[in-house]
Formats: sequence, structure tokens, C-alpha cells
Amino acid sequence: MKLFSASVFAAIIASHYASATAHIRAPNVKPRRTNSLLTAPPQQPPLPSAQQAASASSSAGLNLTDIQGDILIGMKKNKELFFFFSITDAATFKAKLGSDILELITSTNQLLAVATQPITAVNVAFSSTGLKALGITDDLKDPVFEAGMLSNAVSDLSDPGTGNWVPGFVGTSVHGVFLLASDTIDNVNTELANIQTILNGSITEIHRLQGEARPGDQQGHEHFGFMDGISNPAVDGFTPPAEIRPGQALIPPGIMLLGEANDTFQNDRPPWAKDGSFLVFRQMQQRAPEFNKFLQDHALNMPNMTSEQGADLLGARIVGRWKSDAPIDLTPLVDDPVLAADNQRNNNFDFSDATNQTRCPFSAHIRKANPRGDLGGINKFPNQHIIRAGIPYGPEVTDAEKASNSSSTDPSLERGLAFVAYQSNIQNGFVFLQKNWVDNTNFFRPGTGVDPLIGTNSRNSGTDAPNTPRVVSGLDPNNATSTIEIGIDFVVSRGGEYFFSPSLSAIRTVLSV
Ligand code: HEM
Repeated sequence: MKLFSASVFAAIIASHYASATAHIRAPNVKPRRTNSLLTAPPQQPPLPSAQQAASASSSAGLNLTDIQGDILIGMKKNKELFFFFSITDAATFKAKLGSDILELITSTNQLLAVATQPITAVNVAFSSTGLKALGITDDLKDPVFEAGMLSNAVSDLSDPGTGNWVPGFVGTSVHGVFLLASDTIDNVNTELANIQTILNGSITEIHRLQGEARPGDQQGHEHFGFMDGISNPAVDGFTPPAEIRPGQALIPPGIMLLGEANDTFQNDRPPWAKDGSFLVFRQMQQRAPEFNKFLQDHALNMPNMTSEQGADLLGARIVGRWKSDAPIDLTPLVDDPVLAADNQRNNNFDFSDATNQTRCPFSAHIRKANPRGDLGGINKFPNQHIIRAGIPYGPEVTDAEKASNSSSTDPSLERGLAFVAYQSNIQNGFVFLQKNWVDNTNFFRPGTGVDPLIGTNSRNSGTDAPNTPRVVSGLDPNNATSTIEIGIDFVVSRGGEYFFSPSLSAIRTVLSV
């Protein structure tokens, strides 16, 4: 009796081959890189080596192979795609998440050495509606996450309504986001296509945003031209003690990771949520030509300074750092690129000697977002820390935009910051910073005004009109009590969402079953 026809035999061989190649995709035999997928600007604190992190994490009991890779590494991505999706077939999605996607998810540990990095790092996070779509109804004990960004965008974040929001963010249909990071966009697109094939129509795309480090010597700088990502906090259990930079805050792991030491609800979270983190995503459009025009028009008038130098000084006082990253608290009137490149010194300040704003305005972005010595020192308020992990998006300013001093309305020319912040408590972290400090006109002194870089005045003035004039004091070092009215928002909120980035074991044992 003929047991198999030739075609059945061929099918068996093919399926055996397919499962063998699927096996070849296992992490330990994936194709390996020869160069890092991450950037390493000298101004930013470096990542620990795998050995350093292993020893730091063992003393704090952190499992870095179970924590998704994006949470602790900061703003070091070269290219990063944010792919927002809605789950349309939960059963298929869950099955594929466990069987094929999980092995693509990149842990913290994997990112720490080139030899263990994948070609494209993959992370995944879910909104509260996304968790519900997967049948997860446990209370993660974060009401801000639970309610979603649409519900507190105006009341807490001062967005002037949602008129400028990306349509996909208006509503509750964003169930999750894939974060795909690599050194080329081709790699990222290949991995996205792979994921979409695996998920076999169980998700639909809501929105995508391609981030990329700016070119040449602007790598690491955001679109207004300032070096970014310098002052993320060190995390106990990840940052080796010897590598904590002078002036860098040191926070317990539970400020970032649920269920770890000093998490506000350490003992009340569902056990599976341990080692996950809340991911705040905001698409923040930057109107760079308008920002530059404002600086030129209001260039500070200082002895022996050209108007260009006066414009640079105003920009530095708005941010609190020069474009190089040198903090104005240490070098108030001239940029100091040597200081900027020295990461033992470039974060070592605490505003404690500045009472009259001749060094740094009270309203400067970095002083509003992290008041350091103004509130008693860098480690005084550990709960009010976030890890910023965003990346610029969009092209460089075009000649036409430069000439007209205005941002193009062509959607393909939109540029800004794909803002990402991690924390274990969104109210204490991102929302506190935005509401109580950045947009609080009386923080930290009465009459300070909003943060001139990113603050908006809509909540304070009870209006939903964009570009509500913002009155800011302290920008002129000659006359710190004088105020300046800024009639334009340099940053426009295009919306966003709150997500939960679970541990790999939570994906394996809870989210995919
Ligand atoms: C388009 C939007 C934004 C731009 C262009 C921007 C730009 C910058 C720059 C250039 C720095 C200095 C570099 C550094 O210290 O790492 C910085 C620091 C910082 N930013 Fe932003 N930022 C934006 C949005 C935000 C938002 C929405 C928040 C939170 C509400 C935030 C919180 C912080 C914090 C906490 C620091 C560190 C301050 C310090 O520790 O000294 N930023 N930002």
C-alpha cells in the first residue's frame, strides 16, 4: 500500500523545513550584528556593559533578561518606528504573540552588547483598552493609564483641545504599539513586515511614526538644535555605582518598574505586572522655523554680543542649556563645548547658587522639569523622575521654510519629538512634571510663567485656542523681573496615549494565554 502520495510527501518535507527554519529564528542563533544598533553620543551617560549590569542587577535582584529593552536605556536609538495598532482578532493575536512574537521581543540585557543585539530590537506595549481586548481586567493601580490620554489631555496636560491631534489618537481604538529600533529604516521595515505576516491580519494599523536621529553633527540633538538625553536618572540595579555621573539623580528601581523597591503600589499590583513600566507616548510637533525667528526677533542685548549671539543666549536661557548641552547654570553667557563633551561635568549643577536668574531663569525648560537644588537637591523627590526614551521624527528644515520662517503645512515635512517617558506611576511622573511644574505659572516662584519651550497656557487661561499668549519672566539676565509675551506655541501636541510595557514573562504567562 502506498502510504504517501508525492505531493503529501513534499508537503511534509516543506512543513518540516518551515519548522526547522522557525527554530533557526531562536534567539541564540539569530544573525548577529557587527555594529551597535544604538547611538552613543559622548554627552549622554553611557550604557553599562553586560557584566556591569549583571553585577548591579544581582545586588538589587533585578532580572534584566525579563525587562523590555527600551525602558532603561534612554534616548539612544538611531532609527525607531512606532507602529500603533488595534487588535481585531484577539484569539489569533494572543496565539501568535506567544508562539512567534515573544521570541522577537528584545530584553534589556540583549541591548547591552553588540554580540547579543538583534538586527532590529522589538518592544511591545498595550493601552488599557488593549489589555481589555486581550481579556485582562486586573487593576494595574494607575488610574491615569486606565482612563487613557484623551481623558486628561486638556485638564492635566494643557492641550488646547484635540484639534491638532492625529485622528487615530482621538478615541480609544489604539490597543498597542510596537517599537522597532535599528540602525537602518530598511531593517525596521523588514521586521515590521515580518510581524504583520506573523500576526496574520489580527491587527489593523491606526498610525505609524518613523523616528530617526538627526544627521551628521546633529545626532543626539532635537529639532530646535539642542543636545538631548543627557540627564536621565541612574537606576539602582541597572547603573553601576561607579558610573553614576556627578549631578545625576539615583532612583530606586520601583520608580520605573512596577513591583520593585519604592514602587508606590509595590504590594498591590497584580503579580504578573512586576517589572513592567508605564510608557507615555506624545507626538510633539516642533515648529523649528518659528522658534528660530522668535530668537532672532527677541535676541538679548548684551555688551559685546552680536545679535546672533544674543539670539543663541535667549535660546540657551529658554532651554537651560546651550545647543552643545553645556548647562547655563555653569556657563551663563558663553557656550563651552569642552564642558559640554565632559560627561563628568555637564550635568553637575543644582541651581543652588542662582537666586536672581542671572545664571538660569526659573522658567527654563530643564529647571521647570527638574528643579534640582530649588527643591532641596537632585535626590530629594525620587518619585518625580521619568526616563525619557524618545527620538526626533521628520525631516530637516527646508530652505523654503527657513526663508519664510514658518513650518510647512505639507504633512510629509512635519517634524518634532516622538516623546516617550517611562515610570511606574504616571500621575507622579509625567503628569506631575507637566501639570505641577511645566505649565504651572507660579512654579517655582510666583510669576515665573510657563515653561517657554513646551508649556502651554490654555488650561491657565481656560481657553482651547492654540497659541494662547504665554507670559514668561526671567529670560533677560539684565532685568530678571521683566516679562516677555510669547504669542506662539513652539511645540504642538499631536496627541498620544498611555501604554503598559509588560515583562517578557508576563507576555508568556498572561497576555498570550
Ligand atoms: C518637543 C518637546 C521637547 C523638547 C524639544 C525637549 C527638549 C529637551 C532638552 C534639549 C533637554 C536638555 C537635555 C537633557 O537634559 O537631557 C531636555 C531635558 C528634559 N526634559 Fe524635555 N523636551 C521636550 C519635552 C519634554 C516633556 C513633555 C517633558 C515632561 C513633561 C520633558 C522633560 C524633561 C526633563 C525631565 C529633562 C531633564 C531635566 C534635567 O534633569 O536637567 N521634556 N528636554
